[in-house]
Amino acid sequence: MANPFTLGVASGEPLPDGVMLWTRLAVDPLHADPRRPGGMSPRAVDVRWQLAEDERFTRGLRQGQIQALPLSAHSVHVRVDGLRAGADYYYRFRAGGQQSPVGRTRTADDPASTRTVRFAVADCQRYEHGYYTAYQHLAAERPDVVFHVGDYVYESRQSARVVRPLGPVPGEIAKLHEYRQRYARYKTDPDLQAAHAAAPWVTTWDDHEVLDNYRGRGDGSEAFLKRRAAAYQAYYEHQPLRVRPQNGNLQMYRRRTYGVIADFMVLDVRQHRNAATMLGSAQEQWLISRLHTSPVRWRVLVQPLFFARRFVPGPPPNLRPDSWDGHQDQRARILAARATGLVVFSGDVHNAWAGELKADFLDPGSATVGVEFVASAISSMPPETDGEAVLAANPHLKFFDARRGYLACSAGPEELRVAYRAVDFVDKRGAPVRTVAEFVTDGSGLTLENSSSK
Ligand SMILES: [Fe+2]
Repeated sequence: MANPFTLGVASGEPLPDGVMLWTRLAVDPLHADPRRPGGMSPRAVDVRWQLAEDERFTRGLRQGQIQALPLSAHSVHVRVDGLRAGADYYYRFRAGGQQSPVGRTRTADDPASTRTVRFAVADCQRYEHGYYTAYQHLAAERPDVVFHVGDYVYESRQSARVVRPLGPVPGEIAKLHEYRQRYARYKTDPDLQAAHAAAPWVTTWDDHEVLDNYRGRGDGSEAFLKRRAAAYQAYYEHQPLRVRPQNGNLQMYRRRTYGVIADFMVLDVRQHRNAATMLGSAQEQWLISRLHTSPVRWRVLVQPLFFARRFVPGPPPNLRPDSWDGHQDQRARILAARATGLVVFSGDVHNAWAGELKADFLDPGSATVGVEFVASAISSMPPETDGEAVLAANPHLKFFDARRGYLACSAGPEELRVAYRAVDFVDKRGAPVRTVAEFVTDGSGLTLENSSSK
């Protein structure tokens, strides 16, 4: 067999005692025949996996065998448990006489841990818009965990702005085979592979994993539900998830807890959505009850959409209906929980922002009830945005930057810090990384420590 590890390796969904390991066999990633995704023969393939405490696989070796099945495009999801909390591990796969690259992963901290958690937040990686150099720098930081807040792939036809072409499948995608090809295109990127191999990931989706700005069951047609089910299946096949799709649905909202420091509540703002609700009632109840009871220093919402009010001066609409400004009642109920240490991470808008969450966004004198950090984009190009005008119209927003990048964060017993890492260009490889701003919060507001923003 030719090298089947063309899509790299990954790990994710860390718990104190275990992680998921992932790979997908694909000897020819963009293979055209829908019956042979990844150019693989339509039969099961035995895959050996190994996990150890060191990169040479000599200490604490665990291993096993699993079958990669054509039904799930020869993806494998290995659940490893019985591990030590807050510990690094290394893993690799073997199939068809070939060995995969080695990945590093890490379990979540012990439930009683007070250790500082180091994590990164990334999003929006439109392939044709540019290189994933930001991921190369993220990988070098080896955080404890990486959160991805959506637009992992774009279903759209190839953009007019092409730094690097999508290749043989440039049209809008709608079928299972096409979603698989799109993921394969993205996952052949070496910097994305490096970021997955450097740390466990916890992902949530936004709209482009299925269709631009879709809500829930869309128009309710058979055709849309079939398309959504195909997209969810492909999403599952390409992420190290603990769950798998059932009847066209995929249970995505969940929490990942690190000691008594941080409760990361990962939200699904698409699947349960309709005109009346962003999250649906079950997810809202789960979130609010967790905000009330979570026994940690930081209650962290990990989700795609701009959470604070953002009034954009100029022609209407001045408030974007697809973001939380389109669901102000539900946002108010979440903020009314008055969770201490409330921190929201978001993305979607392809520019970086930071701000404070107010009890009443229309009253700058009202209580600050949390903070928000908006990641820019790994490669996706931003819309034309007058950042200064938006900052002036929204006193609770404190920071804007228009470069591509990611967030490098740490959450400790005293403070939570967020560094805005940026690259100056993505239209060629090799951009250095710089920190354009660093914020610190003790939970009562935002303090800017360093800034070189423009
Ligand atoms: Fe995006």
